[in-house]
Amino acid sequence: MLSGKRILLIIGGGIAAYKSLDLIRRLKERGASVTPVLTKAAEEFVTPLSAGALAGEKCYRHLFDLTDEAEMGHIQLSRAADLVVVAPATADLMAKMAGGHADDLASTLLMATDKRVLIAPAMNVRMWLHRATQRNIAALRADDIRFVGPDEGDMACGEYGPGRMAEPLDIVAAVEAALGDGPLQGRHVIVTSGPTHEPIDPVRYIANRSSGAQGTALARALRDLGATVTFVTGPASVPPPGGVSVVRVETAAEMLQAVQAALPADAAVFAAAVADWRVKNASGSKMKKDGSGKAPALDFAENPDILATVSAMKKGRPALVVGFAAETDDVIGHASAKRARKGCDWIVANDVRPATGIMGGTENAVTLISADGAEEWPRLPKDEVARRLAARIAGALGAGG
Ligand code: C5P
Repeated sequence: MLSGKRILLIIGGGIAAYKSLDLIRRLKERGASVTPVLTKAAEEFVTPLSAGALAGEKCYRHLFDLTDEAEMGHIQLSRAADLVVVAPATADLMAKMAGGHADDLASTLLMATDKRVLIAPAMNVRMWLHRATQRNIAALRADDIRFVGPDEGDMACGEYGPGRMAEPLDIVAAVEAALGDGPLQGRHVIVTSGPTHEPIDPVRYIANRSSGAQGTALARALRDLGATVTFVTGPASVPPPGGVSVVRVETAAEMLQAVQAALPADAAVFAAAVADWRVKNASGSKMKKDGSGKAPALDFAENPDILATVSAMKKGRPALVVGFAAETDDVIGHASAKRARKGCDWIVANDVRPATGIMGGTENAVTLISADGAEEWPRLPKDEVARRLAARIAGALGAGG
């Protein structure tokens, strides 16, 4: 429920603006009050009259509207809310936010607010995938702007792909989470992510190709459900999400130590691609060619298995331990065996044959393996896999969701 919560809803200029009228109703049904703000472009799609009438409040439009300033200044308007929601967030509005522009009422409110901001992007698939938008997304995430969607599917422009605004009820769920009403409120979840680097000498290391994308998406989704997240990450190529405690590590040994230091936790999700081996005879100084033409011999030692170690804890084991399994053949068979061997509760298995394009890609097709058997999920964007998994974790912890 959102009783007594005040939402400042900025409606951007996109065809998805019609869904924002329904969003106003859904938010009000749950007891929130909604103050709508329309950008100039939004007025081409919905009218201030319909937004204001549905909200039962004045709809704000212009920065230099002196009557508005007499009633309520833009600074006050941006701060009176408990949460600022931008839906639809167009490519242009996101660019303005990322660049810190303040040349109209909407962008000025976004600059002036001291409250959390949740955006529901909506745009053509090419615009979403454009490098400029992707740069802006990274900048906004780093500024701890929360995202809901976009969804993937048929678009009003006739194309197909990511860019469709999240459905109003999904936006409502994200609003509830952003306001701290999520089902994982008060729960602590540890997430490991990224590759590990195992040193050969001070300048060289052994690594793997994990980007950290799935672990990062998962940490974000858990955070959005209200969890307190400790995010233990190796040197990943995607930035960690905002609003979580980030612990940066390099090696598997450091990752194990960081996980143990972060316990107790209600759940632990091991999405990191941990190196199985470390170099036993790593050199303290840079190894040099000695002119003999003989290559140095590297001696390997097995790394601790973090997932197995935590799963086997007699005291203080998290109630739910989740591992990942990247397989190239007999995915369910190998992953089920891994679940038994490691002693974890769930294994999230995926097929990483190069032909699937999953490794390093934006999509994932997973099978969730638990004591109840194997459940195959459709191929989905990694963000959506993360959201579904986070919801299942909330369910398993008896936290609703
Ligand atoms: O055995 P494999 O590496 O395929 O197992 C993958 C799962 O185990 C992942 O959840 C990974 O994070 C975890 N793991 C770990 N510590 C290791 C190796 C794997 O936590 N040393």
